[in-house]
Amino acid sequence: MTIAFPGGPTRWPLPDEDVRAALLACYASGDWGRYDGANTTALTASLQNTFQREHVQLCSSGTIAVELALRGLRVGAGDEVILAAYDFPGNFRAIEAVGARPVLVDIAKDRWTIDVQQLAAAISPATKAVIVSHLHGDLADIEAICQLAKERNLQVLEDACQVPGAMISGRPIGSFGDASVLSFGGSKLLTAGRGGAVLTSQADVAQRIRVFSSRGNEAFPLSELQAAVLLPQMAKLAEYTRIRAESAIQLRYALRDLAELSPVAQTSDLMAYYKFAWRYLPAGGDAQLDCRHPTRDGLICQLQAQGIDVGAGFRGFNKRSTNRCRIASDLTNAQSAAETTLLLHHPILLQPDAIETLADAVRKVIAGQR
Ligand SMILES: Cc1ncc(COP(=O)(O)O)c(C=O)c1O
Repeated sequence: MTIAFPGGPTRWPLPDEDVRAALLACYASGDWGRYDGANTTALTASLQNTFQREHVQLCSSGTIAVELALRGLRVGAGDEVILAAYDFPGNFRAIEAVGARPVLVDIAKDRWTIDVQQLAAAISPATKAVIVSHLHGDLADIEAICQLAKERNLQVLEDACQVPGAMISGRPIGSFGDASVLSFGGSKLLTAGRGGAVLTSQADVAQRIRVFSSRGNEAFPLSELQAAVLLPQMAKLAEYTRIRAESAIQLRYALRDLAELSPVAQTSDLMAYYKFAWRYLPAGGDAQLDCRHPTRDGLICQLQAQGIDVGAGFRGFNKRSTNRCRIASDLTNAQSAAETTLLLHHPILLQPDAIETLADAVRKVIAGQR
C-alpha cells in the first residue's frame, strides 16, 4: 500500500477521507460542541481493546498524562522517581510537579532507552516508581524492567507516546506498565492536534486519576471532536505501523555502509517509528565530535536544505543541578545521545517508494563532508 502525499512526503497529518467524514459527521450531529458522548466512549473502547487495558483516562496531552499517571500511582512528596537522563523534558518536570525527586540514570550504550543494570543499582528505599520511555524507535527492555520492578516493589510508568502500534512478543507496547501513557499531539502517529491518555489495568490507579481530574468538570479534557478524528486513525494504526516498520528496515539496509550514521537497532519484531534515530559519528565510529568534521547541527542544516525532515534529539538532563535531582550513575551515554542524535520525522516512512531517494540524498550530503 502506497499512500498519496499531495503536499509532499513530509506533510502531516495526511489528507484522510475518513477523518474528513468524521469531522463532517461531528458538524452535522453537533458533537463538535459537546463535552463528551459517543466519540469519546468509542475511543476509550478502542484504546482498551488495542492496548489490552481495562481502564483508559483520556486527557489533554501526553505531558499531563505522565503527571496524572504519577498521581494515580500515588507518587508524591518524599518519593523518588527514576528516569533516564535522556528523555522527554516534561517527564522530569512531571516528577517535580507531584513533589517527588527525579533520580537520573544512564541510557544503555548505543541506545536511547534506560539501562536496566544502572536502574537496578539506583533504587533506594525512597524510590517509588520508574518512568520508562520508548524513544525514537528504540523499545526499552520493558519485560526485564517490569520483572525487576516486581522484585523491588517499584511501580512502572511506561511512556509509549512515541511508539503506539509497537509490539514485543506479540504484546502491545503500552500494556506493560502499572500505568502507560499516550500522546495525541500534532506531530504524533495518532493525532488530534492535542490530547493524551493514561492506560492501566488497576482500578485504584484509574480511580485516583479520575478523582484528581474531576473538578466539577474535567480539568484536563479530550473533546468529542478530538476523539472523532482519532477513531479512523486507530483503525489504520496496525497497517501504518507495518508500512513504517518496513520502510525503516529498507532505510537501515540502504545506508548500512555509512560509517558516520549508526541507526536505531531493531529489537523487536514490530517496531513503531515516530522518529527514526541515528547517532552521528563524524570520525567514523568515535562519538566525540571532531572539529575537522561538521557538527551534528551543521549536518542537520544540510539535510534540511535537501528537504529532508530531520532534527536534533533531546538535550538530556546530564547537566541538571543536584539541587533538583539525584544523579545515580555516570551519564556518559545520555550525554553522547544528547550531542549526536539525529532524528528523521516519520511521515516519509509511509512512502516506501521514497526511501531509496531519501537514502541517496543522505549519502550525498555525508559524502560531501568527507
Ligand atoms: C516520550 C514523550 N513523552 C511525552 C510527550 C508529551 O506529549 P504531548 O506533546 O502530547 O504533551 C512526548 C512528546 O513529544 C514524548 O515524546
